[in-house]
Amino acid sequence: MAEDLTIVSGSKQEKYISITAQIKALIDGEPDLTANLANIAAALKEQFGWFWVGFYMVKPNKTKGVDELVLGPFQGPVACTRIAKGRGVCGTSWAKEETIIVPDVEKFPGHIACSSASKSEIVVPLFNNGKVVGVLDVDSDMLDQFDDTDKVYLEAIVALIKH
Ligand code: SME
Repeated sequence: MAEDLTIVSGSKQEKYISITAQIKALIDGEPDLTANLANIAAALKEQFGWFWVGFYMVKPNKTKGVDELVLGPFQGPVACTRIAKGRGVCGTSWAKEETIIVPDVEKFPGHIACSSASKSEIVVPLFNNGKVVGVLDVDSDMLDQFDDTDKVYLEAIVALIKH
């Protein structure tokens, strides 16, 4: 397993090509989901320097009798712990089962502001056997930081995860 990441400069695509290969090497042969989610969050944060990168995983809330998103491995400031289906960008991505790009979080109805420093966001669902089992959430402290390149590569990265 690689112990050090190589951080590259260049275009967004060049950064993704480099970090995707390194993430693949980091998680290949490691069956533990939490360990792999933690290393993916760390690798993405190191390469891109985003404000917040992390996972929310679908888990049962036994008191309420429903599933909800629960905070998983992440890099960045402390964040909201639980998000209901359909709530915020994360809960909407889960409900719609698709990636959501938000150029300006203040214009997204129902956006959950874990931090007022967050300005734009992309949320990518994680699938296992056709079901959403979690989401990858990336926040930037600058407006309009995410586009189709992020969508394509982040979807490819989460597809590497073995559940
Ligand atoms: N903004 C997210 C909540 C998670 S935090 O940004 C880490 C949302 O609206 O779902």
